Amino acid sequence: MARKAAIIGGGVIGGGWAARFLLNGWDVAVFDPDPQAERKIQEVLANARAALPALSDLPMMAEGVLTMADTLTDAVEGAEYIQESVSERLELKHRVFAQIQQSCPDTLIGSSTSGFKPSELQQNAANPAMIFVAHPFNPVYLLPLAEVVPSAVSDLDAIERAKDILREIGMFPLHVRKEIDAHVADRFLEAVWREALWLVKDGVATTEEIDEAIRMGFGLRWGQMGLFETYRVAGGEAGMKHFMAQFGPCLEWPWTKLTDVPEFTEELVDLIAGQSDAQSGQYSIRELERIRDSNLVGFLRALKDRDWGAGRVLREHDERRRVAVADTPPAGAPLVMAHMQVLPGWIDYNGHMTESRYLYASSETTDAFLRYIGADMDYVASGYSYYTAESHIMHRGEAKLGDRLTGTLQVLSADEKRLHVFVSIQKDGQEVASIEQMLLHVDMKAGRATAAPQAILDRLLPIANAHADLPRPKAVGRATGQRK
Ligand SMILES: NC(=O)c1ccc[n+]([C@@H]2O[C@H](COP(=O)([O-])OP(=O)(O)OC[C@H]3O[C@@H](n4cnc5c(N)ncnc54)[C@H](O)[C@@H]3O)[C@@H](O)[C@H]2O)c1
Repeated sequence: MARKAAIIGGGVIGGGWAARFLLNGWDVAVFDPDPQAERKIQEVLANARAALPALSDLPMMAEGVLTMADTLTDAVEGAEYIQESVSERLELKHRVFAQIQQSCPDTLIGSSTSGFKPSELQQNAANPAMIFVAHPFNPVYLLPLAEVVPSAVSDLDAIERAKDILREIGMFPLHVRKEIDAHVADRFLEAVWREALWLVKDGVATTEEIDEAIRMGFGLRWGQMGLFETYRVAGGEAGMKHFMAQFGPCLEWPWTKLTDVPEFTEELVDLIAGQSDAQSGQYSIRELERIRDSNLVGFLRALKDRDWGAGRVLREHDERRRVAVADTPPAGAPLVMAHMQVLPGWIDYNGHMTESRYLYASSETTDAFLRYIGADMDYVASGYSYYTAESHIMHRGEAKLGDRLTGTLQVLSADEKRLHVFVSIQKDGQEVASIEQMLLHVDMKAGRATAAPQAILDRLLPIANAHADLPRPKAVGRATGQRK
């Protein structure tokens, strides 16, 4: 039976949590008295379904079931994890915790609060030890960070359980050592926001110029190395000490406005809103969300290829789920091995998926299969691998930006050394391309083909036998240019 999470408050953030749990196979019950809540959640879910699968190199888990509960008590019943995401008002959050703990005093309750400390959230609670901060970032279904903040009375075993659950849904729980207002990330962002307000107010830069200053330069550095690692590199070979000696003293000038905040006069608000309209008013918020999501997917995929930063979290998430996939017995049908999405960089001048990406999609499918039979990265590190000896691509349709593709694999034949496969890349169940490949099991050190070990054959040959009864695809054995 699927595990159940309850989400209390289904706005921007609650909807994002619901999507993340659902797409990772959990059932989710949401309670939100707003009659528009279900529509809003479905919109977030649609965005998540279009983006999250593109980060995974494994078949997605079967999506969990979403229920809109009539009462808070119905929502939390039987839940293993509860995430509170109601509006940022302390007395409202207290009321919600009191209601939850009337029926589930011992269940984990994470709060999405951006600003309140866990000890503030816990005031007057029936069981304060189970309430903690789990502060996510929008869009919750794509960004891995959740700041987990306990207080002095938190149950630390419960916190560890919560962190495990967050990892299971692909997040990165950052355990914050001391509770402070706004935790770590929002404290930092507030300082940046304050400076940006001054820059606009003083007429130094427009909203657009400030955004360019971030996204054309240091924002790209922060996204992959953060602050300290970036500065370490800036210090050159002498490293961090040198950097601090060189740039430390300028903090005393100072360049910034310290903690003064410009007054939110009507004039300032109009100035900023007007500049923002001029900058981005040509897009709807939904369009901006989709642009943001597909850019994030592209960044995250690049980081995943490099096993770095947030990309490492994606790899670890695949690794965790791979065990579950590898335990499923082979079905008597081509195996669904990869789900992909056509990303901006995959498109050629015609607006179609470019040729080389079909080979990439095929490799993603074949690699998933090789991992499935045990020829994974550890196996490669041991000096053995499967190499592709021959490929034949046949194009049968077109894929466009954003299309979701599935890669299935049929084993045509296999023996100790050879693996002959047929990969079908499909869109909405229709084949857009097929790739027939011959792979050889190789001893990489010796540089020659060699028999695969028994452990791999024990996984491969039963699949080959099961697939021997499947109809042979027409494209198998085709020569280039042969008439249909
Ligand atoms: N927006 C962000 O970028 C962001 C990021 C991280 C954390 N947060 C935090 O997440 C929380 C929610 O923020 P949001 O941006 O999703 O706000 P939101 O206004 O979009 O959503 C809040 C939802 O709570 C619902 N609600 C109000 N009272 C309720 C009750 N008694 N029971 C159940 N639902 C109730 C509202 O109907 C609304 O749908 C806040 O604590 C906020 O600080 C927000």
